[in-house]
Amino acid sequence: MKLDQEKKQELLKSASQVRQWAYVPYSNYAVGAALLTASGRIYDGVNIENAAYPVTICAERVAIFKAVSNGERDFQAIAVVTRNGGMPCGSCRQVMAEFSPNMAVIVADENENVVSETTLSDLLPGAFRSDSLV
Ligand code: THU
Repeated sequence: MKLDQEKKQELLKSASQVRQWAYVPYSNYAVGAALLTASGRIYDGVNIENAAYPVTICAERVAIFKAVSNGERDFQAIAVVTRNGGMPCGSCRQVMAEFSPNMAVIVADENENVVSETTLSDLLPGAFRSDSLV
């Protein structure tokens, strides 16, 4: 389903606004994410760091896990906002692929300038998925 301009702006705004709640005392690199489900709801998320560094979780996964724990598994798009338009990491791409391999991924900087607009299948071609487990 094509993402209309209005929904895209709403997602970007949501990702940008939630970014203030990022818990980033170690990297000082705040990330905000907003996930649009097939049912039309938006779940947001921020990165949450930890003194034991690897325990940190990315904003994208927080948004996705919030959605999944509310019964949602089908995603249309995710918007990710950082100060410089950084791309989603490999682990987050893998989690997206589990649920919605064709979802749209929109990446923007802190002024909500879109630096990349693509699909997950372009970002993670040939993903390992449930059908690999035969
Ligand atoms: N981070 C995200 O939240 N999403 C990504 O896709 C890449 C990295 C976070 C993790 C850590 O808190 C900070 O950015 C620096 O790596």
